[in-house]
Amino acid sequence: MSAFSNIESAYEKFGAEEPFYAVLTEEKYKRKQLDEELFFKTGEDLLARQMKLIQDRGIQISRGRALDFGCGVGRLTNAMATYFDEVIGVDISSTMIGNANQLKRRPNCSFQVNKKPDLSLFPEDQFDFIYSDITIQHIPSPESENYIRDFFRVLAPGGVAIFLVPDGPVLRPNSLPARFEKFYCEQVRPFHKRIRGKYEVQVHRISQQRVETIIRESNAHLLSVEPHPRWAERTKKYKPLYYWASKPND
Ligand SMILES: C[S@@+](CC[C@H](N)C(=O)[O-])C[C@H]1O[C@@H](n2cnc3c(N)ncnc32)[C@H](O)[C@@H]1O
Repeated sequence: MSAFSNIESAYEKFGAEEPFYAVLTEEKYKRKQLDEELFFKTGEDLLARQMKLIQDRGIQISRGRALDFGCGVGRLTNAMATYFDEVIGVDISSTMIGNANQLKRRPNCSFQVNKKPDLSLFPEDQFDFIYSDITIQHIPSPESENYIRDFFRVLAPGGVAIFLVPDGPVLRPNSLPARFEKFYCEQVRPFHKRIRGKYEVQVHRISQQRVETIIRESNAHLLSVEPHPRWAERTKKYKPLYYWASKPND
């Protein structure tokens, strides 16, 4: 099986057994002691913070259609639905989407499974806003990079995408360090998780230089790069960055 399909099967299983813990890996989000309100409130607080930052920076976003890429159980999709007319959550895992449909809190959000390594299910120029949190890091390359490129295809002119990617070292494609990093992230760490009885979720990094190149090559405009507010306290290994980028008006 490829690294990409391993991720799909890991999240099918995770979504069936511990869908909330699969999103926020803290003991309190395991099913047996879950406070569902608290879980969804984390999404509302996060979105409120992001929308305030957008407003403070004077960035205008049309409030029509929005996409939540890697929506899980809809924690952020439901929160986004208070700001946008229509929000679509997509996820590779049908068990996650099954949960999202059951837990749906707002009439103007809907959920779709997308198992393809791209966003070809959507025509171009569809969304005013795309948001993706704690998802791209789980997708191996080149698929992760393809999705980022596709964000700017499906974004409407004038639309804004915000997505989180952990920063990593600048590595020459196919160099020994690049191949080692790929092997470690796709094989070694998941194997280590498997033998400890944990879910085989992968975590990948992409250098800031590389993400900025992808944004530039997609003819999009980088608005800002923001460090994740809390993560730095939790781990020094990953430095997750939020990229804000817009698609120019024609
Ligand atoms: C840690 S969860 C985050 C869920 C949600 N973004 C949130 O913050 O509440 C990661 C999600 O990404 C999804 N995912 C992983 N690979 C994906 C892909 N290629 N396309 C869409 N979703 C994907 C997983 O199934 C999982 O639901």
